[in-house]
Amino acid sequence: MNADTPAPGWVDTHLHLLPGVDDGPASWDDTVALLEAMVAAGTTHAVATPHANYQFRFERERTEALLQQAQALAGERLRLYLGCELHLSYENVQQAVETPKQFSLNGGRYLLVEFPEFFERGALGAALERLRDAGTVPVLAHPERNPVFQQHPEALDDYLRQGCVAQLTASSFTGRFGKRAQQFSAALLEGERAHVVASDGHSAQQRAPHFHKAVTAITAMAGEEMAQALCRDNPLAMIEDRPLPYCPEIPAAKKRGLLARLRG
Ligand SMILES: [Fe+2]
Repeated sequence: MNADTPAPGWVDTHLHLLPGVDDGPASWDDTVALLEAMVAAGTTHAVATPHANYQFRFERERTEALLQQAQALAGERLRLYLGCELHLSYENVQQAVETPKQFSLNGGRYLLVEFPEFFERGALGAALERLRDAGTVPVLAHPERNPVFQQHPEALDDYLRQGCVAQLTASSFTGRFGKRAQQFSAALLEGERAHVVASDGHSAQQRAPHFHKAVTAITAMAGEEMAQALCRDNPLAMIEDRPLPYCPEIPAAKKRGLLARLRG
């Protein structure tokens, strides 16, 4: 870490920060407001992850220039990196298999992927296997908000056992996405199926990067050490392309029974 990098506070690996590239900020003013909200909430490191989906095309070189502008606005209070939120379309998977570092978080092994709202489990499992074979670690964005995982938590276990990791949205813990997502995020935390928490912030108002509220909720449920693992140590390891310090094994025999009890 170089001298102008702040000591780690909260580390955000899912954020729509750059103006005009997706459904995040529409202007630089909005980006500045989001940056200020993040600093106020104690975030010190963040990866800008614009959407790469049917609606928004992700071009790393062009986006890199925007990131540098955002970094200049943030100054030394917040260190910014680049990645994307890769929708698991056929074309995206093809491209990511060929050039994974074009899409991954800070060009490392961790690749943030977004599931379709509804999907066929075997087909998506095969896509994730291809991404694993290409040397990436797929980071599954907000499984607690997905209706398929809510209905079939054992599908998530299959993917975690394949070597994927689960990234939960901070405000799911505080009810922003409804009771079901809130209960499921608590169940995943309790069942040791959560690897990292991120804001999925889109603006200072909408899905604001309120990390500290999630930290309070996680600390109350699972203790301070867990909150720091999910909101600081694990996401920092992702940015720095290291193995995760906290990476629980998914037990093969017990997992279905446990998650079946947690369902709903
Ligand atoms: Fe997102």
